[in-house]
Amino acid sequence: MVSARIDDIPINWLEEILNLSVERIVVTDRDGIILYINEAYCEFLGTTVEQAMRRPVQEVIENTRMHIVSRTGQAEIAAVQHINGSEMVANRFPLIVSGELVGAVGTVIFKNPEELHLYKRKIQSLVEELKYYKTREEKELTSKYSFSDLIGTSRHFVEAKELAERISVNHSAVLLLGESGTGKELFAHSIHANSLRSAYPFVPINCASIPEHLLESELFGYEDGAFTGAKKGGKKGHFQLANKGTIFLDEIGDMPLAMQSKLLRVLQDKEIQPVGGQKSLPVDVRIITATHRNLEKMVEAGEFRQDLYYRLNVIKIEIPPLRYRKDDIEQIAMNLVRKLEKRFHKKSVELSREVIRLFQQHSWPGNIRELENVLERCINVLDGSVIKPNHLPLYLRDQDAAPNDAATNPAGTKVLPLKEIIAEAEKQAIQSALSAAGGNRQQAAKLLDIGKTSFYEKCRIYSIN
Ligand SMILES: Nc1ncnc2c1ncn2[C@@H]1O[C@H](COP(=O)(O)OP(=O)(O)OP(=O)(O)O)[C@@H](O)[C@H]1O
Ligand SMILES: [Mg+2]
Repeated sequence: MVSARIDDIPINWLEEILNLSVERIVVTDRDGIILYINEAYCEFLGTTVEQAMRRPVQEVIENTRMHIVSRTGQAEIAAVQHINGSEMVANRFPLIVSGELVGAVGTVIFKNPEELHLYKRKIQSLVEELKYYKTREEKELTSKYSFSDLIGTSRHFVEAKELAERISVNHSAVLLLGESGTGKELFAHSIHANSLRSAYPFVPINCASIPEHLLESELFGYEDGAFTGAKKGGKKGHFQLANKGTIFLDEIGDMPLAMQSKLLRVLQDKEIQPVGGQKSLPVDVRIITATHRNLEKMVEAGEFRQDLYYRLNVIKIEIPPLRYRKDDIEQIAMNLVRKLEKRFHKKSVELSREVIRLFQQHSWPGNIRELENVLERCINVLDGSVIKPNHLPLYLRDQDAAPNDAATNPAGTKVLPLKEIIAEAEKQAIQSALSAAGGNRQQAAKLLDIGKTSFYEKCRIYSIN
């Protein structure tokens, strides 16, 4: 076998090869004296090979560390070096021959000024793009709904809405309570939109959807190098993003106890401490929280801090479930139909009297979100322009016409209609199957011994994510 050796290359080729194969190259001896430098490097430095040869490298190349590497023998890879007004990327290697440190070899990238400008332009456009997304994200931190989006004229609902409107202008903490799909998020948006803070960000965060170990850094941010994988330069937390505005802590009942203590401290001291940071930062943020859980019971059971509960519960707004606002159903349904029409490119869709009657009989465990889902399904299967019972899902179609006592008796919780009890039992069965299956839907459906499609349909109806 013939092995290639450098001796086989004519010596006068070598210089040309170095010129072609690497960007800019410099070789120094152990004292940092230049033994070799290629033309490209000299051209970039504004000098000539003749002028540069045999001179101390520091006198020829700005900010160089070649004389250091040639002494320490420690390589320096991808170091940024400022030369001639440009940021260059430098690699510096010790030159070891026959096991002895004899000098150093250095290269810097960017072959010529045009290339450098090309890179600069590319980086510049990436920086611009990043800036655009950053400002867009900040712009998106605004409320998207106002009180005019909250439809309904029934007494309990109007009372809740009026209270929310009245207190929106002050800075006190607000606790929104209501079943799933009753409009808690809509209320939070509207309160911010109607407040003196509306020009500042509205920052929603769902405490249930963020893994426990990330919640602290999401809320309070982190300093540079706080943990492995942390973004360089640190990251602002939601509290900082919401400064002067409103933070909406949704599903507050799902906040772990350890986090509850940290949140309490923030509310008391009005300052946050980023993860891995030493100093505290003052924040001026209004807090709105929401949950479908019974926080008082959680306090009794030791699952929610009582002191935090008092801090959050300065103004409590209870949003009534849809089954107690039967008079609002038609109006809300029509409003939703008008929105869906636009999305599905339909016109003048109406609801038949029979459908409205069936809607009023149903107990709506998933509240307005369930109503939204039902109407979306109807519009999808609609042939003409009137939604009739045959467009409804089966469970709504097959209701008997028995009057719903609970509907007219918000306080009376003694006897509920059977359908309501069944729906609630179904919902709970699905939720426990899901948690038994660790969130795996297919497995949960198996546990319940029902088909996958029907399982998904029920999840949708009961707004189970
Ligand atoms: N009063 C209302 N008028 C019209 N639409 C409403 C009203 N309340 C809620 N909605 C609509 O119902 C849906 C559910 O509302 P929202 O997300 O605010 O409920 P939620 O109480 O936060 O539910 P969850 O506890 O499941 O998060 C949304 O699409 C919202 O637009
Ligand atoms: Mg919500």
